[in-house]
Amino acid sequence: MKKMWSGRFSASASNLLDQFNASIMYDRKLYREDIEGSLAHAQMLEKQGILTQNELKQIQEGLTRVKNEIESGTFEWNISDEDLHMGIEKRLTQIIGDAGKKLHTARSRNDQVAVDFRRFVLRKNLEIAELMKLLMQEILVVAQKHTETLLPGMTHLQHAQPINFGFHLGAYLSMFKRDIERFESSYTRNNVSPLGCAALAGTPHNIDREYSAELLGFDSVSVNCLDTVSDRDFALEILFNISTMMMHISRLSEELVLWSSYEFGFIELSDEYSTGSSIMPQKKNPDVPELLRGKTGRVYGSLMGLLTVMKGLPLAYNKDTQEDKEGVFDAVETAEISLEILKEAIKTMQVKPKNMDTACKVGHLSATDLADYLVEKCDIPFREAHFITGKAVAKSEELGIDLSEIELKYLKEIDERIADDVLDFLVLENSMNARQSQGGTATQRTKEQLVYFKKYLQEK
Ligand code: ARG
Repeated sequence: MKKMWSGRFSASASNLLDQFNASIMYDRKLYREDIEGSLAHAQMLEKQGILTQNELKQIQEGLTRVKNEIESGTFEWNISDEDLHMGIEKRLTQIIGDAGKKLHTARSRNDQVAVDFRRFVLRKNLEIAELMKLLMQEILVVAQKHTETLLPGMTHLQHAQPINFGFHLGAYLSMFKRDIERFESSYTRNNVSPLGCAALAGTPHNIDREYSAELLGFDSVSVNCLDTVSDRDFALEILFNISTMMMHISRLSEELVLWSSYEFGFIELSDEYSTGSSIMPQKKNPDVPELLRGKTGRVYGSLMGLLTVMKGLPLAYNKDTQEDKEGVFDAVETAEISLEILKEAIKTMQVKPKNMDTACKVGHLSATDLADYLVEKCDIPFREAHFITGKAVAKSEELGIDLSEIELKYLKEIDERIADDVLDFLVLENSMNARQSQGGTATQRTKEQLVYFKKYLQEK
């Protein structure tokens, strides 16, 4: 079959080349953006007197028909058409004849693909941000119920200080809010129109880029055409945004996996979002968070892949850039399904406060409180207080109990300056509530943090 660009060729392309060169099998995903871009371009050409009213009308009707064919599944996607831009243009010309051949005036596939892909990515930045808000909403619901539920706060995965579960979840709300802001700022920064840049240098035709940009909902027109046709920062940004979001999701997933083990027993994932083993009948496996953790790796791969494609490309467009799409499509789909399933898993999981509480009774979580007590009430320098507390911890270990359960007499034996009121400080709940500093875990502070996130979600 004759190629659109075959004027200067005498032999036709080999099948192998078609297979290797074509992007139509995957870039057809951009058909809506492509048709909208063509409609805006045609409307601009008509306004500028480059197309007649009648030609514009034919193009509009023809593109509407093409769109219907694509959506009803009758459109023929053919790899010898190379990409969706040529596939659609060819079909348009079959339908309307000569007017179809004028559509590409003052345009190149280089600015065309930049328009289509950029608009797809812009939209996805906002859609993913919306899905993230729904996830945050579910996390918030669980967090609000558990601002008094104690669990061991950890560093180095070792028991450190008692915190509440709402506070722990608040950490993830903070991460996800930053992620949303990243998606939104990428949207704003990249909302510039490439249309009219043509192949690389602009066009001698009297076009109006501001007009077509406005029709397509872009905020402004790009400044330098040479940059614009080869710029894929918008694609890199969404890959980075998704990678960072998945990194956060992966950290939460890791905790869900740990928490649903017998060793922790802090949560139980619902049957709906757990899987069984084909050999061990007793098993209930946390496949959902495990897969979320695993898929994060694939998303990073797409980011690394595109960064590597882009490095060392001379200006301006190079066919290498055609490799920009599959990784982004895959990462976007991964992000969307990941956010949805994580939201459902969290919504349906069972929290087990009793097990969290039991876990708080090992590891001497209130040791820092004893040291703080010695500093504040007994005027002992912190280093010395730290040492005395170490003795109390050793004594508890010897007795086989947690520091929060130690009897007063043992503490007094270690240091006579310790008074009766010390025991209050060792109570785990008091320890948690003592952390009243801004951003701290005290129930009151946690509630304020959750109000902050609630307001953020309502304002959006
Ligand atoms: N299919 C191409 C891509 O995705 C479209 C642009 C092709 N431009 C060109 N001059 N060959 O990048």
